[in-house]
Amino acid sequence: MTQHFLTLLDIEQDDLKKLILRAIELKTMHKTGEVYQPFTGLVLGMIFDKASTRTRVSFETAMAHFGGHAIFLSPRDTQLGRGEPVEDSARVLSSMVDAVMIRTFSHELVKRFAEYSSVPVINALTDYCHPCQLLADIQAYTEQRGDIAGHTVAWIGDGNNMCHSYINAAIRFDFKLNIATPPGYEPDASLVASASDRIHFSHSPEDAAHGADLIATDVWASMGQEEEQKKRERDFAGYEVNQALMDMAHNDALFTHCLPAHRGEEVSAGIIDGPQSITWIAAENRLHSQKALLEYLLK
Ligand code: CP
Ligand code: NVA
Repeated sequence: MTQHFLTLLDIEQDDLKKLILRAIELKTMHKTGEVYQPFTGLVLGMIFDKASTRTRVSFETAMAHFGGHAIFLSPRDTQLGRGEPVEDSARVLSSMVDAVMIRTFSHELVKRFAEYSSVPVINALTDYCHPCQLLADIQAYTEQRGDIAGHTVAWIGDGNNMCHSYINAAIRFDFKLNIATPPGYEPDASLVASASDRIHFSHSPEDAAHGADLIATDVWASMGQEEEQKKRERDFAGYEVNQALMDMAHNDALFTHCLPAHRGEEVSAGIIDGPQSITWIAAENRLHSQKALLEYLLK
């Protein structure tokens, strides 16, 4: 059966842990100038219905480093964008390329694409979750502090796609997750229930930050929610991750943000640009962890 990566739960715990270690290894290989091209002649199709900087560049660069090729497909230029059924696009594209990466709104669409695809499909962000970012975040934490198992992560902000992937990560990487969202912005209830043994939920950022080893947040208005920006700024008042909040976490706590960030909203400039931030390491790790992911899926 074709192995897809639509959520973190698509890969078993042991394999995910190995994938993180492999990402660290691939990073060292890259930094030391080792040429490693296992993908000669392989092609990744990249479907983007939403904007991206990191995801596009990291996947495209990963394929180039590996000796393969990536094709950028936007709805402006494809028949998918003109309403060709996703099932038809999946059948045809997967008959030509070796893997497909999709960034879009509907998670159901990615699931349907995967159902009809004969090659691995990678979720590069839907409104439901963003598993690729978690590979990079966990790699960054592991590099700085070792295994995240048994530690405490605080998610402070919107109960959005990133929050959902942190919930799945808590299951797969065995950490405790404190979530604080404003009322009305809670994560998916069934997902929370699936990890109830390791999630502590509240509407208090201070409560969530207390005793955390890593604090993570994200924009208050995600892609597609731009018109809610003003309302969300009001609803998320008090949810900025700043020094006062970081001080409630463990002394050596780290901070991360998937980016793009809004300084002065969900995070202060002092924190995201300060010494506790592993945001930039995680952003770079998108390249290395997705190389490990591609290698795993195409092995
Ligand atoms: N974090 C992330 O996915 O960034 P992009 O939107 O730039 O791809
Ligand atoms: N929650 C954000 C993540 C961007 C990488 C969004 O969906 O826009």
